[in-house]
Amino acid sequence: MNEVLENILTRRSVRSFKSEQIKDDELNLILKAGTHAPSAMNKQCWQFTVIQNKSKIEVLAKVIREALGRDESYNFYAPPTLILLSNEKDNPNGLADCACALENIFLMANSLNIGSCWINQLKAICDEAATREILTSLDIPENHIVWGMAAIGYPNATPKPHSIKNGTIKFIK
Ligand SMILES: Cc1cc2nc3c(=O)[nH]c(=O)nc-3n(C[C@H](O)[C@H](O)[C@H](O)COP(=O)(O)O)c2cc1C
Repeated sequence: MNEVLENILTRRSVRSFKSEQIKDDELNLILKAGTHAPSAMNKQCWQFTVIQNKSKIEVLAKVIREALGRDESYNFYAPPTLILLSNEKDNPNGLADCACALENIFLMANSLNIGSCWINQLKAICDEAATREILTSLDIPENHIVWGMAAIGYPNATPKPHSIKNGTIKFIK
């Protein structure tokens, strides 16, 4: 099978991670893939914030839990690496650009047998005081929204494949 398609078909969202940290050269490949994603008008005005500090990941999860009334189990699935994809608030393509970067990240990770999952909850609460305070402490610019996060690590479980809906492709000839 074409190896790009095979990578796409075998990627699954992973929601259980080993605590062992991924290797720096693996992280660098993942970030290279992310930063080579397309961006509208090639602006590349995103920021990739990589957190590999367990307690900082836990503090961020706690702030989100408190803002959204989530229970203690909300912890991004406790990944050893969390990548925050942020972009300028007034960039109308900020979310689309970050989504392209995230998919590149997921596919590169999959090709290295590293698990990944999109974590979505931060985007709506970036400008709440407690959230902005922690984002600022992570060097995320005040004018940025975190559109998505990638939980990354060696998988601790093998997610099952899911079916693909029929009828989502229309041909007009
Ligand atoms: C925009 C977006 C937001 C998502 N947010 C979350 C999330 O917050 N938590 C989570 O566990 N998975 C999240 N996912 C993962 C989806 O649930 C997952 O991609 C979907 O169930 C299909 O499964 P697959 O990724 O294994 O193909 C998100 C995916 C997308 C594209």
